[in-house]
Amino acid sequence: MDIGGSKDTSERKFLLAEDLEVKEPFHLFDKWFKIVNNDPRTDKANAMCLSTVSKDGDPSARFVLMKGYSKEGFVFFTHYTSRKGQQMEESPKVALTFYWEYYSRSVRVEGTAEKLPFSAADSYFSTRPYESQIGSSASDQREDFLVKPSSIEFWQGQTDRLHDRIRFRKPKANEPDGYLTHQAEDGWIYERLSP
Ligand SMILES: Cc1cc2nc3c(=O)[nH]c(=O)nc-3n(C[C@H](O)[C@H](O)[C@H](O)COP(=O)(O)O)c2cc1C
Repeated sequence: MDIGGSKDTSERKFLLAEDLEVKEPFHLFDKWFKIVNNDPRTDKANAMCLSTVSKDGDPSARFVLMKGYSKEGFVFFTHYTSRKGQQMEESPKVALTFYWEYYSRSVRVEGTAEKLPFSAADSYFSTRPYESQIGSSASDQREDFLVKPSSIEFWQGQTDRLHDRIRFRKPKANEPDGYLTHQAEDGWIYERLSP
């Protein structure tokens, strides 16, 4: 798989499912994120669009900054009294979308948001610079949320418009079939999607 940073994507190889060397989505995310995050040509690599729905099914989306990720999922913080905070209480199914223009890459996450225990949020705030802590008193009602993914899709743009898409998700009955869906690691399967 190509990990280069050339603007000219014509030399990039397709990210074919058969050639996919990383068969665990967080491992692949880590690989991609470290590349874009260490490249000054990508500003705010951790910015992600968070999509939520109200209890009536009305969607809304806005950017938040990812604070961290692990095999558990993706963490961000926000005020739980905010619109998104309310919506995640009402309907915890959410989507996250990253876009890294320079690399012509995007990652789409679908999953369930849950509030992290206060202690987890607390340890984050104690590591923040002094200035950042000023706005983070206990009365500030900020909470950390963890998005636990049920699917993670990796999109690699190509100059010939045959964009490459690999989606990791949890298997349904009789999956993987070894044809359209393939075994990945840690209980994931993956499939190649048509552009
Ligand atoms: C690049 C960027 C990063 C942002 N990061 C956060 C964040 O980490 N947490 C947050 O609550 N709002 C963040 N915001 C503001 C949100 O996009 C949004 O305006 C705000 O949280 C209110 O959203 P809501 O009314 O849907 O709850 C960010 C905005 C931008 C443009």
